[in-house]
Amino acid sequence: MSDIERLRSTLGHKWTKHGPDVLPAFVADMDFAPDPRIGAAISDLLDRGDLGYLFHHLDQLPEVWHGWMRRRHGVDLDVERMWNFTGALHAVEAVLQLMTQPGDGIVIFTPVYHVFQKVIEGGSRTVVGVPLAPDGSFDPDDLDRVCDAASPKAILMSQPHNPTGRVTTPDELAAIADVAERHDLIVFSDEVWADLALAPHRHLPTVAEPRLADRTITIGAASKAFNLAGLSCAMAHFGHEPTQAAFDAAPDHLIGRPSSLSAAGVFTAWSECEDWLEATCRQIAVNTTHLERRLLAEAPHVGYRPPEAGYLTWLDLRQTGLGDMPAERILEDHKLALNEGDEFGVGGTGFVRLNVATYPDILDEVIDRLVAAVNKAGSP
Ligand SMILES: Cc1ncc(COP(=O)(O)O)c(C=O)c1O
Repeated sequence: MSDIERLRSTLGHKWTKHGPDVLPAFVADMDFAPDPRIGAAISDLLDRGDLGYLFHHLDQLPEVWHGWMRRRHGVDLDVERMWNFTGALHAVEAVLQLMTQPGDGIVIFTPVYHVFQKVIEGGSRTVVGVPLAPDGSFDPDDLDRVCDAASPKAILMSQPHNPTGRVTTPDELAAIADVAERHDLIVFSDEVWADLALAPHRHLPTVAEPRLADRTITIGAASKAFNLAGLSCAMAHFGHEPTQAAFDAAPDHLIGRPSSLSAAGVFTAWSECEDWLEATCRQIAVNTTHLERRLLAEAPHVGYRPPEAGYLTWLDLRQTGLGDMPAERILEDHKLALNEGDEFGVGGTGFVRLNVATYPDILDEVIDRLVAAVNKAGSP
């Protein structure tokens, strides 16, 4: 089976949402099959019919995540303060529900992963937006001004950042620490993209900033790095003691837990599959460079800054004449499915998010369609 045949036979959202004439480069799943050792660990449970109450891997995830975070990111998290969740957003919602009140302001840097806004507003909390520059950086004065005006309760960061692919700098963490101390903020650091930092860039965990350590909720997962989003498993570390106390007091089943199959998969990823991740990062770096070269040569009016982490690229199409909803037009006219920048909130209009985690021939076809679309549209 060729790669494209395998992908077209998958039942996942990415390859089934649109018809067979459309190439999907939108949702944040990779086209690469996960490391076979992960599938083997899950198959092993299935082959034995080992589907009863089974906590073997789940119980070990805190230790395994602890070792992973120390080895890869240089932080020594406390295993007593780690909790399992069925996803990164499950962790965010659960903490928001227990630790904030309806109407409370939650800071996000926009544009950002579109579900953040839904999570905040779905829980009747209020979005407090801080604008990012097109390169993904923010102005500390904007952060101060917005926080002084809105008196928020928490800050929710995608760190590294989806969709710009930027890793947060020590200076930015220091600016966040200033404001967090002044307003006594809880800091959510969603680090699901951390393991896909692309050399020479390195992820700096928020909890490594000493002034943020005791107010940070660190959220990690194998879902993005190992292409396991469907397993629904994430970890959170509560550096923030009041959050730890609230979860200790909360009923167990309100929080829930991932399945034994998920836990086996994630356990295997973090304990055996680092070489797969390294090879995948190298391929992503090759792909982002390839996209850069082709855009420079064939569509130089597309704004592009290669990601520092992850496989999502954030393309500025405002000089192309494709209008405010370019993804809609590209899908309709060129059968390429991208994420519309507008969905990512303020500052996203006129951009698209393109996923490059695919095979070279598919990536070239994706770029062919993109280049045809922007060149046909001309300039604004
Ligand atoms: C920053 C960020 N957080 C959370 C998620 C979703 O994570 P989960 O499926 O574990 O809730 C994504 C998915 O792309 C993401 O980019």
